[in-house]
Amino acid sequence: MNIEQIRADFPILSETVYGKPLVYLDNGATTQKPECVVRELERIYYTTNANVHRGVHRLSQQATDLAEVARVVVQQFINAPSSREVIFTRGTTESINLVAHSFCQQFCKEGDEIIVSEMEHHANIVSWQLQETIRGIKLRVIPINEKGELQLDELEKLISAKTRLISVTHVSNVLGTINPIEKIIEIAHRNDIPVLIDAAQSIQHLTVDVQKLDCDFLVFSGHKVYGPNGVGVLYGKEKWLEQMPPYQGGGEMIKQVSFKGTTFNELPFKFEAGTPDYPGVIALATAINYIKKIGLDSIKAYEDQLLEYCTDKLTDIEGMRIYGTSGQKCSVISFLVGNIHHYDMGMLLDKMGIAVRTGHHCAQPLMDVLGIEGTVRASFAFYNTKEEIDKLIDGVKRVVGMFK
Ligand code: ALA
Repeated sequence: MNIEQIRADFPILSETVYGKPLVYLDNGATTQKPECVVRELERIYYTTNANVHRGVHRLSQQATDLAEVARVVVQQFINAPSSREVIFTRGTTESINLVAHSFCQQFCKEGDEIIVSEMEHHANIVSWQLQETIRGIKLRVIPINEKGELQLDELEKLISAKTRLISVTHVSNVLGTINPIEKIIEIAHRNDIPVLIDAAQSIQHLTVDVQKLDCDFLVFSGHKVYGPNGVGVLYGKEKWLEQMPPYQGGGEMIKQVSFKGTTFNELPFKFEAGTPDYPGVIALATAINYIKKIGLDSIKAYEDQLLEYCTDKLTDIEGMRIYGTSGQKCSVISFLVGNIHHYDMGMLLDKMGIAVRTGHHCAQPLMDVLGIEGTVRASFAFYNTKEEIDKLIDGVKRVVGMFK
């Protein structure tokens, strides 16, 4: 990988913060956009902007064609069998809410159970808790061990005749753990239980093949994979999506509307009510094509080097505690040093031009398990460098020095 060339593709990386070169290590929250993605958005708005699936005029047909090509780009990226199984949403959160709402409406009754894990993002907890209130379902939770790995033997014990779905993250946004989702899916399917994979933190680092995994649902956000904000994806097996009722009502999700009754459109449109963010969808395909050119294998190998380098250097700092020490990790390091509050660390690093995330990372139940309020989190992308990690390490050491 030619890092210099890659960095040149991301104009924001040349910005300065408080007069210092930006060191952007908050890629778990959102990734930066290559110029080609921003240009594509601009091109759509300047030359091809018209509502999709709603016009006989040329612009509308062009925009529709581009949006449907984008669907096929996503389909191929995750190796979905059919583009009918690729639904565009506003992001991971909306994708999970869609499944929680429609799956539970169709398949769950009072007392039925959904299994999640202790390391889930709030999106994969609260969406189901809303269904607890509406439908009286119950959440069961897979515990983690001291390294921040899921305890799969406990999963086997949680499964019962009441289990309707298992919904777990592929990669933890706090711990960086890569979960053994192949094994989880195998255990689930052995018990006739479908599985939803939250790929928000994996899709930008790991090759995701929904056919190989045999997952029933998979969700991710465009903005975490170098694409625009406000678009996301829900992959679902046709056999589930066909049976699930629509999530929202509105334009384009219908076949025929009358006051006597309404019939719904076919997949994927049944789940895409209202005008979609078609410029976003088209630019998401540009982002996917961009990272495919670099290659996810090269990206993963390079990011692994950054992770190892950073972990080694951080470990040398006195009083360092790293949260998430699994042998299977990707691109995320959460830490605390001594008694230094994570906000203090984050704010002082910011003054040095270094952007990290601080707080509970939308994973408060995990913070409870860890017995802390929050962490400092550095998360890497393939445009980061060892020099930037050196700056982070120097920055952390300076902050430690200030608190001595
Ligand atoms: N879920 C995003 C994160 O982990 C926002 O930072």
